[in-house]
Amino acid sequence: MKKRIQDVDVTNKKVLLRCDFNVPVKDGRILDDSKIIASLNTIEYLIEKKAKIIILSHFGKVKTEEDKINNSLAIVAEHLQNLVKSKVIFSKQPRSLYLEAKIEQMNPGDILVLENTRFEDVPDKLESSNDAQLAMYWAGLADIFCLDAFGSAHRKHASTYGVAKYIPSCIGFLVQHEMEMLDQYILNAEKPFTIVMGGAKVEDKIELIESLLPRCDYLLITGAIANSCLATLGFNVGSSLKTDNQEILAKIKELLVQYKDKIMLPVDAIIGRDYIESFVEHVNIDKIEQDDIIYDIGMKTINKYKEVIDSSKTIFVNGTAGKYEDMRFATGTRELLNNIVNSKAIKIVGGGDGVSAVKYFKLADKFTYLSTGGGATLEYIIHEGLPAIDNIADA
Ligand code: 3PG
Repeated sequence: MKKRIQDVDVTNKKVLLRCDFNVPVKDGRILDDSKIIASLNTIEYLIEKKAKIIILSHFGKVKTEEDKINNSLAIVAEHLQNLVKSKVIFSKQPRSLYLEAKIEQMNPGDILVLENTRFEDVPDKLESSNDAQLAMYWAGLADIFCLDAFGSAHRKHASTYGVAKYIPSCIGFLVQHEMEMLDQYILNAEKPFTIVMGGAKVEDKIELIESLLPRCDYLLITGAIANSCLATLGFNVGSSLKTDNQEILAKIKELLVQYKDKIMLPVDAIIGRDYIESFVEHVNIDKIEQDDIIYDIGMKTINKYKEVIDSSKTIFVNGTAGKYEDMRFATGTRELLNNIVNSKAIKIVGGGDGVSAVKYFKLADKFTYLSTGGGATLEYIIHEGLPAIDNIADA
């Protein structure tokens, strides 16, 4: 078992807290602050313990100097100030003499948010290559390192992984909660256990599918993975999104044979065509033509999947059934999610797209658990652990 924040004496200590504040922002506005809200348990605990809290987080992708303009954590620091009573100070650099002086001036319970850790990736990728000097610098700012960034724990970066080498380390409440939920509900799922999987990126999902198939009872497939499966079986999926990677297609074929009693595929679809904006049709899956693009599952598939959903005790959702942001192709994703929330099963959603869809259809409070991780959640399920968590000292 990993050392937890409650196992460490943090009273009056300087605590370096790695959060995942990588939240979606549009036109200078935070669209969804649930990752920040989920971090508050640890932050408030540290405030109560009169710790000086030094927060590290990445924010978006920073590959060039220009990327820095739209990826400043200042907006998150401002938002955090509205959520806590303590004073929140922002350091415009992730590393500077100013921030060292600021830490000296902090009162117990104050919070210092450092600028986006990925600013250190320009030009030399110091953060993402886990540069030892950078990790040592951040560790040198504090007495204790607390990892609370579940969504970033699959990254072996200086701020998630490297720092733990130089000062005593522990996991925060958010990471503890994620592990408890995923261990209890997914790794030890109550059966019948059904996975509803969709989305656009086949390459990213195949390892997850392989890892989950032996553990689940049913895998209900939609999206580009379904198209790839159908193509492997000889169906014409027209111009729909699918993988052309021969290795992945061979793996899919092998899994379709080995797990034929568990895997279910769409029997009908809602199709569009790229060059006729108004063209939308419902067709059976064996009637797709070369120019057709599958954008959603049809009603027969929704009903077929509902029978399995109704008989399940645990359901894990990963990915969406179609292009749900477009009203014409939203029915499949919306109805699958509605059927899931109306079932008696434990319902977990993990992975960025699925979580966004659940929130889009305002169903978040009807799920048993929404993971804060995207790629991290999937990797946790596949490997039953994550590098940055495994790296924390044992209790
Ligand atoms: C996420 O949003 O999934 C996490 O913050 C990880 O972000 P990353 O894929 O940019 O490392």
